[in-house]
Amino acid sequence: MRQFIRKNIWAVAPVVFVLVALVLLGSPLSSSKVQETPAEDDNLIVVGVAQVGSESVWRSAHTQSIQDAFTRENGYMLIFDNARQKQANQIKAIRSFISQQVDYIVLSPIEESGWDTVLQEAKDAGIPVILIDRKVSVDDDSLYASWVGSDFVCEGQDAGYWLEDYMKKQGREDDEVNIVVLKGTKGASATIGRTRGFNEVAKVQRNWNILQQGLYFLIFVIILQQVDGEFTTAKGKEEMARLLDQYEDIDVVVSQNDDMTFGALEAIREAGKTAGVNGDITVISFDAVDAGVELVRNGEINIDVQCNPDQGKYVEQIIQDMEAGKEIEKAYYVPERVYTQENVGEEENVTEGISG
Ligand code: AHR
Repeated sequence: MRQFIRKNIWAVAPVVFVLVALVLLGSPLSSSKVQETPAEDDNLIVVGVAQVGSESVWRSAHTQSIQDAFTRENGYMLIFDNARQKQANQIKAIRSFISQQVDYIVLSPIEESGWDTVLQEAKDAGIPVILIDRKVSVDDDSLYASWVGSDFVCEGQDAGYWLEDYMKKQGREDDEVNIVVLKGTKGASATIGRTRGFNEVAKVQRNWNILQQGLYFLIFVIILQQVDGEFTTAKGKEEMARLLDQYEDIDVVVSQNDDMTFGALEAIREAGKTAGVNGDITVISFDAVDAGVELVRNGEINIDVQCNPDQGKYVEQIIQDMEAGKEIEKAYYVPERVYTQENVGEEENVTEGISG
């Protein structure tokens, strides 16, 4: 046998070579299978989500709602990116989604400006972009298909009207009221909208002084403009401590999210003051995450204006509608409510239905 092989080796070599090549190249003649994406994946809708980060308790709930909506069971392959509060990372994520040829891009933009170029790239690649939570400010609105989120201006107005009413009920409508505002991330829709809404109410109150917006030394104004709360507890505490140091007589703090409020409350305690319903400083907060609502219940926060994080399911519905070729609205507002000591016990279902 050995003699036979030695004699014929050069005759069989080409046949062996061809067989090996066929196996390696995945020929249909070969019995070995090339690793394929499971057949069911062919039908999955691929969604790339560019999330802001994980700066707040609210953001974690928002991320959860996205992950709950875009599951395999619901027919999706989710590619999730956490930009760690950097717009450059979000832009990078969108470019990566484009090169992966996802079916849809969902973007929660950290700030409103700076999106024209990358959204144009998505449009050129034929990938629809759906905005969630915050908005973008672009020259051409056709760069995104739709938006789902909160009415931030309305949230700010709710806070302002509540304060007006509260002062009246306390017979303090003619008192001077010194207010400080802890702002969120600069340029973010949540910051812009809540500031605008609150200021609309404040500007017609003759006796409301928004302290950091007054006319101080230029250097002081510049310092205040550079420091924003970034929606984090650490920054909220830092900024509140600085303001308490700066001003003897703060009557009200408007803190643009619960995480900053948690930090501000620590700073107030450390300064030897009290907060909330029976305290030295009236506290207005936004988000109404569970821990925030609990502080409304125990009186440390006077009012918590809800920002509803349960937005994933609405974006999922928009995608279903687009898949079915249905008309979609350009903007959908999620339902929201306000929590105060008077109503905190009342169960109210506000998570049903969005308005276009
Ligand atoms: O854009 C929504 C805001 O972003 C929430 O109020 C805040 O908690 C979050 O980080």
